[in-house]
Amino acid sequence: MAEPAPSLLPFNNLTISDTVTEADFSQRVLIRSILTRPDAGAGLAGQTVKVGGWVKKGREQGKGSFAFLELNDGSCPANLQLIIYADVAPLGQFTPTGTCLHVEGVLQMPPEDKQGKQSIELKVTKVLDVGAVDPAKYPLPKTRLTLEFLRDYVHLRPRTNTISAIARIRNALAYATHTFFQKHGFLYVHTPIITTSDCEGAGEMFQVTTLINDAEKVEKELIKNPPPSQEDVDLARSVVKEKGEIVAKLKSDKAGKPEITAAVAELTKAKENLSKVEERSKLKPGIPKKDGKVDYGQDFFARQAFLTVSGQLQVETFACALSSVYTFGPTFRAEHSHTSRHLAEFWMVEPEIAFADIEDDMKCAEAYVRFLCQWLLDNCLDDMEFMVEKFDKKAIERLKMVASTNFVRLSYTEAVTILEEAVSKGHKFENKVEWGIDLPSEHEKYLTETKFESPVIVYNYPKGIKAFYMKVNPDKKTVAAMDVLVPKVGELIGGSQREENYEVIKERILEMGLPLEPYEWYLDLRRYGTVKHSGFGLGFERMILFATGIDNIRDVIPFPRYPGRADL
Ligand code: 4AD
Ligand code: MG
Repeated sequence: MAEPAPSLLPFNNLTISDTVTEADFSQRVLIRSILTRPDAGAGLAGQTVKVGGWVKKGREQGKGSFAFLELNDGSCPANLQLIIYADVAPLGQFTPTGTCLHVEGVLQMPPEDKQGKQSIELKVTKVLDVGAVDPAKYPLPKTRLTLEFLRDYVHLRPRTNTISAIARIRNALAYATHTFFQKHGFLYVHTPIITTSDCEGAGEMFQVTTLINDAEKVEKELIKNPPPSQEDVDLARSVVKEKGEIVAKLKSDKAGKPEITAAVAELTKAKENLSKVEERSKLKPGIPKKDGKVDYGQDFFARQAFLTVSGQLQVETFACALSSVYTFGPTFRAEHSHTSRHLAEFWMVEPEIAFADIEDDMKCAEAYVRFLCQWLLDNCLDDMEFMVEKFDKKAIERLKMVASTNFVRLSYTEAVTILEEAVSKGHKFENKVEWGIDLPSEHEKYLTETKFESPVIVYNYPKGIKAFYMKVNPDKKTVAAMDVLVPKVGELIGGSQREENYEVIKERILEMGLPLEPYEWYLDLRRYGTVKHSGFGLGFERMILFATGIDNIRDVIPFPRYPGRADL
């Protein structure tokens, strides 16, 4: 069963006076602390508060004698209604969408005939600050904009209802992740972003190098300051020889000390010049090469380095010492995929558990995903309701279903049999169903969306399609791998029991055509005090897609990176 989540985030519990006295980190109270109270703020009537936010909608009324402004500060989906009279300040500057306002006022009940919509409004008494907007130029007008359009404005899109709701859901899922693992005795480990090992062995890594920068600097330098020719070097050398001879002659002539000292100083200068000239004459444009290959010995780390595709291998070193650990950080894949499920930079949650086999791993994955779903139901219902209204009618239903349903478990072989049965009954797949292939997303979706309408865990995959570190099963044909498939998304989690036997894993590395040397440290974990252990990786953005019902992964990460785009 999923763990019951605590029902309130800490700052939900703050009253306005708590916020002012104890959490006075800014010069306003959060609109959330007014509107998300059980009485929706009604009990606060009469209190003077300062609020700050951005105008969603503004309209002048009463022939320009007052204006209504819908103010949002991102702390919750709801807007606080402000009413401001023309005698406080000229109204025209406040009404354009996007205007930033910092104001003081008195909370009051709206007139009786308007009470259905607003439980409380703020009558502005003082305008503290205005960040004006020229509505003719502001790129995000009031009209509904497509998510695709908004990708051209990643710096302004957090001001939209959709992107801010996703940001709050993302934040809640991160908080829930730490809560789940911390509650179950896992330690959070920071694994490196820059790595020299390819975890998945798929060759999809971004390289980290300063060789290109350095080469460009040298090229520029050489254009400005051409390198010395052989004649320049010979000349500098002959000057050294000449100065040396002068010193020798003065010494043999028993010349005076000041004379000799001056000649020695000249010789030293000539030697320094020669070494500079020789050094510069060696400068060559282009990337340094050795034996016809790039000379990484001259690179920043004196070897080839990459951005990590997964923190797994490194977090295993901590699991094999601290038992239950997890890492949660950005990972990078240079796949040229333009799908709505792939990013070049995405975040992954990777627990790693010592003394655990594939069964334990599946149990942990299921409990974690169910906990996340329950957490959103308990803590983010207002944002989830927004998602249901605007994007996916089934989003809340889906969270409830997952939070309360045992995941279906199937071996890969059983999954293939089910897919073959579907084909024999006339179901059309683009990809051939065949034991031994990696299940393409249409097969995964058939299992989770059509056949079972529930999350499905497929385990024991053919060894040929999985990474070297997965535990080889007694049948020698499959490995103890598991993928969690969910409706809407397909693969949400990939994990496995790790091969802890030294001889077997060494054999697997060689079988895959990988060099042993970079994995020696990984083999040490098996050489010394080896332990049965398992883990998995949850694609954090895929979890947000699943929760929100948003279609494209580029809209659930604050700054999406994909082929051709890395804005900001
Ligand atoms: O299945 P993957 O490749 O597994 C690993 O990296 C293991 N080392 C994890 C582990 O055992 N510690 O990736 C894990 C998950 C996938 O199931 C998917 O949800 C997500 O990461 N993922 C991506 N998400 C967005 N964009 C991409 N390009 C992704 N590639 C994988
Ligand atoms: Mg995978």
